[in-house]
Amino acid sequence: MQAFVTRRIPREGLAALSQAGVCSIQQWDSDEPIPRSELLAGVAGKHGLLCVLSDQIDKEVLDAAGSNLKTISTLSVGVDHLALEEIKKRGIRVGYTPDILTDATAELSVALLLATCRRLPESVEEVKNGGWTTWKPLWMCGYGLSGSTVGIIGLGRIGQAVACRLKPFGVKKFLYTGSRPKPENAVEFQAEFVPLAKLAEESDFVVVTCSLTPDTKGVCNKDFFSRMKKTSVFINTSRGAVVNQEDLYQALVSGQIAAAGLDVTTPEPLPTDHPLLSLKNCVILPHIGSATYATRSAMSVLAANNLLAGLKEESMPSELQL
Ligand code: NDP
Ligand code: DGY
Repeated sequence: MQAFVTRRIPREGLAALSQAGVCSIQQWDSDEPIPRSELLAGVAGKHGLLCVLSDQIDKEVLDAAGSNLKTISTLSVGVDHLALEEIKKRGIRVGYTPDILTDATAELSVALLLATCRRLPESVEEVKNGGWTTWKPLWMCGYGLSGSTVGIIGLGRIGQAVACRLKPFGVKKFLYTGSRPKPENAVEFQAEFVPLAKLAEESDFVVVTCSLTPDTKGVCNKDFFSRMKKTSVFINTSRGAVVNQEDLYQALVSGQIAAAGLDVTTPEPLPTDHPLLSLKNCVILPHIGSATYATRSAMSVLAANNLLAGLKEESMPSELQL
């Protein structure tokens, strides 16, 4: 059997694949994304595909792969880059990497929240550029978590792990929204299930940790931001497309909301002349939620084991239910 790997991955994952002796491996051995033409050529005739979140695995790729392809393993928990209906129709199994990246992503979400609400990048810049002239009572003030209401859009694995980390900061109340109430996820934080509009209106901090689906695409839009308080902070570590970025820009420029912290954008990378990058009250990170050495290593091993199990027609350690 033959497998195609679309990117350079941590050596632990590649070792797991090559030492198993289950398939021969062809790889795009680069840190940079594979050009589309190379992807289409590389998948042809392969039985397995190990891809990353920036590879669009759509009908064209599946057609190029042909009928040998039976397993797709993505080095991510997000699966919005996969044409799931088409994949299901073709009887292809999908492996992904939930759980093992939850802690790292929640940690980064909290770091981004604190950096944004306490204006850390702006403050560091002031130290460097001479803006720090003396201690000033009204200077560089932000917003704190103590006594606040935090609204979480998507109280799944990462959403709960974020709530768990924020609770000790003295958060007074957690709100959450999703496709339906999840009392089992909410009980630990006594989180209240509310409609999206109410979450926007009552939260001091909004944290987006949902998956990107047709239902969540663009939900953080003009109407959403117009309901938020002028003192509220918006954080997104899910996917860029959950947010209408033009509406977010207007909300930040007009003072409709206080600040935003984004680990994910549309597109990625965000062009360096993008208007959002000109704003002091917007902190943007380059999609590093799961970027710890240990997490990326574990993700690569899990993705390799998912692929191998699929090729051997065994049960996968983490299979997406299609
Ligand atoms: P989960 O499946 O555990 O959680 C996803 C959550 O999204 C669920 O609670 C689900 O709620 C919620 N959701 C679905 N539809 C809606 C909706 N219409 N409104 C509000 N919430 C909704 O996934 P994870 O927590 O493991 O991961 C979540 C996402 O985080 C990933 O899909 C990925 O896109 C992103 N991610 C980003 C990373 C980064 O580097 N920044 C790292 C890892 C993940 P319900 O069950 O009620 O539908
Ligand atoms: C994911 O896994 O979906 C993240 O975006 C990257 O780890």
